[in-house]
Amino acid sequence: MAKKRILSGMRPTGKLHIGHYVGALENWIKLQNEYDSYHLIADYHVLTTDLETGNIYSNTIEMVIDWLASGLDPAKSPFFRQSQIKQHTELHLIFSMLITTARLERNPTLKEQVRDLNIENVIYGHLGYPVLQAADILLYKGAAVPVGEDQVPHVEITREIARKFNNQYGVVFPEPEPLLTNFARLVGLDGKAKMSKSLDNTILLSDSPEEVKQKLRKAVTDPQKLRKNDPGRPEVCLIFSYHKKFNEGETPEIDRDCRSGALGCVDCKLKLAAKLNDFLAPVLEKRKQLENDLDSVKDIIAEGEKRALATAENTMNEVHTAMKLG
Ligand code: TRP
Repeated sequence: MAKKRILSGMRPTGKLHIGHYVGALENWIKLQNEYDSYHLIADYHVLTTDLETGNIYSNTIEMVIDWLASGLDPAKSPFFRQSQIKQHTELHLIFSMLITTARLERNPTLKEQVRDLNIENVIYGHLGYPVLQAADILLYKGAAVPVGEDQVPHVEITREIARKFNNQYGVVFPEPEPLLTNFARLVGLDGKAKMSKSLDNTILLSDSPEEVKQKLRKAVTDPQKLRKNDPGRPEVCLIFSYHKKFNEGETPEIDRDCRSGALGCVDCKLKLAAKLNDFLAPVLEKRKQLENDLDSVKDIIAEGEKRALATAENTMNEVHTAMKLG
């Protein structure tokens, strides 16, 4: 039986952090064996919130290096840039006729971005963000999309557009399902709800053991645990939430010793640094190899774009036939 197709995507914002790993990449790596996966580099989507394009290419390379170093396998699933497969923009245009502006204005992800980034006037392309995303997914007939909670509204819009197209012109597209990542987002080192580069509260997949230690040293813990032997509350401590992810085996003991006051934050952070660095060591090693062989990284993208293009051309032929164009 043919494997089910999934389409996953990320905007290229440069080096990835452990929040990207926990929230997305880890899941993609697991899914690549069960599914026929396509991995999109959403470089045009960057423009929806930042018109400066000078860093997009280098950010793409950094992101792809992190994908590879973490274990995503390009032999299994192609990596490709939206900007290089012209069918994305073509299908985006067709889809833009199949949804109302009122529907797009209700998109909660857009509302959140407008609030978080203090955007005064929304540009047309930003309003259309989910329309381009629908084109990304449906161009490859993705049946499922691995995403976090915040992207579920975009998958819903994709389903609506697929339904509308199929009703209007005949069935070409599946109605994709979201595949939710089960681990919640990692909290940032400053205790903010989200680890994010713009908040400067991240641990990067490319951080050295010393950087990891330094960053953890400054991280926020339970504000009521002022002295080493004060009893702490693991449930409010972000360091404990990282232990749960990267050091699961020791969590019962850490929980107990934090509460009793036997374990101070400095030691607790050192335990975590050791585990995180064990996890990151092979990633760093692979990263170093790739940085010294950028041609092979570029070849991987070029090869992925060839494969993606073949699929994209087939879909657009079907679209044009269904629409009686050409
Ligand atoms: N909007 C996604 C994000 O910000 C990125 C993205 C673009 C995407 N196109 C996609 C994700 C298609 C999944 C499928 O995370």
